[in-house]
Amino acid sequence: MEGFKPSKFGVEEHAASAYPLEGRHAAVPCAKCHIPAGTATLYRVKHDECWNCHADIHKGQFAGLPYNNHCQSCHTVTEFTPSTFPLTRHGKTRFPLTGAHIAVPCGDCHQAKKPLEASLPAPYRFKDLSCTECHTDPHNGQFAERMRTVGTNGGPVGCEACHSTKAWSDNVRFDHSTTTFPLIGTHRAVSCTNCHKPPNLELTMKNVVFKAAPTQCEGCHDDPHASQFANGGRSPGCADCHNTNKWKPSLFDHETRTDFPLKGAHQNVPCGGCHKLIREVQNKPVLFYKPTPKECAACHGSGKPSQTTGVTPE
Ligand code: HEC
Ligand code: HEC
Ligand code: HEC
Ligand code: HEC
Ligand code: HEC
Ligand code: HEC
Ligand code: HEC
Ligand code: HEC
Ligand code: HEC
Ligand code: HEC
Ligand code: HEC
Repeated sequence: MEGFKPSKFGVEEHAASAYPLEGRHAAVPCAKCHIPAGTATLYRVKHDECWNCHADIHKGQFAGLPYNNHCQSCHTVTEFTPSTFPLTRHGKTRFPLTGAHIAVPCGDCHQAKKPLEASLPAPYRFKDLSCTECHTDPHNGQFAERMRTVGTNGGPVGCEACHSTKAWSDNVRFDHSTTTFPLIGTHRAVSCTNCHKPPNLELTMKNVVFKAAPTQCEGCHDDPHASQFANGGRSPGCADCHNTNKWKPSLFDHETRTDFPLKGAHQNVPCGGCHKLIREVQNKPVLFYKPTPKECAACHGSGKPSQTTGVTPE
């Protein structure tokens, strides 16, 4: 009797309609859904889909299967954020979250890139799912060739040639034997940074130029022989007489590489029995293998100790 306005029709009465006001809708002013137009005010508002009243903030990204823009797939009237799209559902997308990605906030991946795309909706579709879509290459392209190698899914392996999502420093996948310098012998136990020295005393290998590591032994190891094996200008490589297992004993074969074979009585004579010539080179004592006399008398004959070897013949 007091008037037609306001009506007695409140949230409670609304519950009897085909559209009970639940969750956040209970606090929404009537006029937001029933836009006042006098007698033309519409009460039987369409409500099959949330988008009957809510703008599609995702701009059609979920318009296709399996969602068909059915907002209820991911939202309730309680709130839009967070969605009802937890990690378990993410596991069924084209991009399951693994390793370090599990702890990354949703919005770090699903945000418009600034400033160019700031006006665009948060992206839930990526044209490329490879790591480089979101991560920049700190290696300055030095692995371009390796990254082009075709992986099991037929595409280029990209960063995954070496990395997983576990951690960047976790190089489980890098197989050093695929380089021209396989790690064999003692090199297997040598830490990466001993060969791949970070520039400017940095602590990580971020700015290392990996291919810059020398592949010849002498590039990393000092020659303790003071270049005595140089022959006609050509120094034989360390690898001529050594492998990566150990320096001593060497692989030097006295039979084929000298014209003084160690046969018979000399077979078990220690190297040091004949090679004693030590000279100082840059303040370091260096054992010189030449000259060593070849004549019997030089070591055995004169009755006096040999000048070169110090051996006193019998
Ligand atoms: C969130 C949106 C929303 C809000 C807020 C809302 N309504 Fe509704 N209302 C609807 C929808 C949708 C229908 C249509 C139900 C149907 O199809 O029968 C409806 C139906 C009605 C009807 C017709 C009921 C019937 O049985 O035919 C009345 C009257 C009404 N609303 C009044 C109100 C009043 C008064 C308020 C504020 C207290 C209110 N509504 C708030 C969405 C809303
Ligand atoms: C009949 C129209 C209508 C329908 C259908 C409808 N809403 Fe709403 N809803 C509104 C209006 C109007 C508001 C108030 C918006 C405002 O304050 O700007 C609102 C507010 C909300 C809010 C709280 C405010 C906010 O934006 O966070 C949530 C959450 C919400 N709706 C979820 C849903 C979901 C989920 C559906 C589908 C299941 C849905 N709504 C369907 C009209 C509707
Ligand atoms: C496949 C799942 C999915 C579907 C379908 C979906 N959304 Fe969302 N929506 C999300 C996710 C995820 C978020 C981000 C919320 C979060 O971080 O938890 C979001 C956020 C929102 C937000 C909040 C945005 C903000 O910036 O605060 C609104 C509003 C919203 N959605 C509306 C809709 C509407 C309307 C529809 C239907 C047209 C819809 N959504 C369909 C997943 C979905
Ligand atoms: C590390 C990055 C990353 C994080 C973190 C992440 N996502 Fe995603 N998300 C993606 C990628 C990539 C896709 C696949 C896009 C495609 O299919 O094109 C995706 C797809 C989606 C989709 C679309 C699903 C579909 O079927 O199309 C939704 C919804 C979504 N994510 C919601 C979330 C939510 C909610 C969170 C937080 C719980 C989250 N995402 C965290 C990268 C991420
Ligand atoms: C859709 C975007 C997206 C894609 C695709 C993506 N990431 Fe991420 N990733 C992120 C974001 C965002 C973070 C968190 C911020 C950061 O650390 O850069 C992250 C973090 C990481 C981290 C942890 C970094 C840290 O410091 O803890 C690793 C490792 C990682 N991603 C590896 C990968 C690998 C490997 C791929 C390719 C298989 C990949 N990501 C693809 C977005 C992505
Ligand atoms: C051929 C192998 C290889 C490929 C391919 C490769 N990386 Fe790496 N990456 C490494 C190595 C080795 C490290 C040093 C790891 C360590 O510190 O233990 C590294 C370190 C990193 C780091 C950590 C840097 C830091 O701060 O310490 C990031 C980030 C990274 N890589 C990203 C990428 C991305 C992105 C791609 C693809 C564009 C990629 N990597 C491709 C070998 C590779
Ligand atoms: C004993 C020395 C040594 C050690 C230890 C070593 N590397 Fe290397 N590495 C090399 C050399 C030499 C090359 C250069 C091969 C070439 O030029 O093809 C190389 C090449 C590489 C490359 C470049 C591959 C390419 O094709 O571009 C990567 C990446 C690499 N190493 C990573 C590592 C990692 C990670 C570790 C530790 C687990 C490691 N290396 C340990 C000597 C070493
Ligand atoms: C890219 C650098 C690099 C190259 C090339 C290289 N090495 Fe090494 N090597 C190292 C480093 C670093 C160590 C560990 C530190 C040390 O003992 O000097 C090592 C250790 C060794 C050791 C073990 C030393 C010990 O005392 O246990 C031997 C033997 C060895 N290398 C032999 C070789 C031979 C033979 C070659 C050539 C076929 C070679 N290395 C090429 C870097 C290199
Ligand atoms: C012509 C053969 C030959 C060449 C070439 C050669 N070495 Fe040797 N190296 C030897 C012999 C012989 C020994 C002594 C081994 C023993 O006592 O069993 C030796 C010993 C060593 C030792 C151990 C020294 C010690 O006192 O413990 C090191 C280190 C070594 N060589 C490094 C190198 C390096 C580095 C190169 C290349 C720059 C190289 N060698 C080239 C023959 C050679
Ligand atoms: C009985 C004496 C004797 C013994 C024992 C001996 N050598 Fe020699 N070695 C010689 C003589 C003599 C020469 C000089 C040959 C020449 O001038 O052509 C020589 C030459 C060498 C050279 C020089 C090769 C060059 O071309 O510069 C090396 C290296 C060498 N010996 C290593 C060894 C090693 C290693 C041992 C122990 C396994 C050893 N020798 C044991 C007598 C000996
Ligand atoms: C560079 C020095 C050197 C030259 C040259 C040399 N020897 Fe020897 N020879 C030795 C040394 C050192 C021993 C071991 C000494 C010892 O066992 O007392 C030895 C041992 C011997 C023995 C064994 C002696 C014993 O008591 O068991 C005979 C035999 C021998 N040499 C014969 C010769 C003959 C023959 C020649 C010439 C073809 C020759 N040596 C050249 C250094 C030399």
